[in-house]
Amino acid sequence: MKKLTFLPVAIALICAVLSIQSCGKKAAPTPNTIGTTLYDSLGGTALVADPTHAGAMIEKGRLGIRNVIDSTIFVIAADSRINGHFTVLLSEVGAGNLTGYTDLSENLTTFVAGATGAKDFIYIGLNMHDAHDPAVNPRINGKATNADFDAFVSDLATGAGKNKLPANLLNSVAAIVESLRSTVVQM
Ligand code: HEM
Repeated sequence: MKKLTFLPVAIALICAVLSIQSCGKKAAPTPNTIGTTLYDSLGGTALVADPTHAGAMIEKGRLGIRNVIDSTIFVIAADSRINGHFTVLLSEVGAGNLTGYTDLSENLTTFVAGATGAKDFIYIGLNMHDAHDPAVNPRINGKATNADFDAFVSDLATGAGKNKLPANLLNSVAAIVESLRSTVVQM
C-alpha cells in the first residue's frame, strides 16, 4: 500500500477539526479519583455544554473522549505511516465533505466510551473485525499490519497528549486498545 503525503487534505482536516474543537480544550477531562469506571475517571456522566453544538449538553466523559478521538484523527491524517489506509476519508475531507469524518468521530467516540464503561450510548458501527476488513468495509484501504497498529497507538498517545490526558488514564485506554490488536490486525 502506498504511503500518502496529503498536505492539502491534512490542511482541510486541520481546519475542520479546529473549527469544531475551538472550545474543546476548555472542557478537557478532569480526572475523578473517586470514579468507579474508567469512563467516570475520564469525566463521567456529568453534563457540560457541548462546545461544538450550541445549546446542547454532553457528558463530560464523552466530550473528553471525543476531543482525544478528533485530535487522533487529525494526527493520523498527517501520519504517512498509516494515512494510506484512510484514502476514502481523506479524499472526502479534501473535497470539503465532512460526513464521513463526522460519522467516524461519532462511532469511534461511542465505541471507546462504551469500552471504558459508559452506559448511555449504543454503538451502531461495524464490529471491530468487519470495520478493519476491506472486503466488508470499503472505507479502509488495505488490512492493517502490526506496524500499522503500533503507529495507530502512538498517534492515539499524541492525540491524548494534545488534550492533556493524564498518563494513568492513557495507559488504561491503551490497554483496551491493545486488547483489540488481534481482531483489528488480520494478516
Ligand atoms: C484498537 C484499535 C482500533 C479501534 C478501536 C478502531 C475503531 C474503529 C471504528 C469504531 C471504526 C468505525 C467503524 C464504523 O464506522 O462502522 C473504524 C474505522 C476505521 N479504522 Fe479503525 N480502529 C482501530 C485501529 C485501526 C488501525 C490500526 C487502522 C489502520 C492503521 C484503522 C483504520 C481504520 C479505517 C481506515 C477505518 C475507516 C474510516 C472511515 O470510516 O473512513 N483502525 N475503526
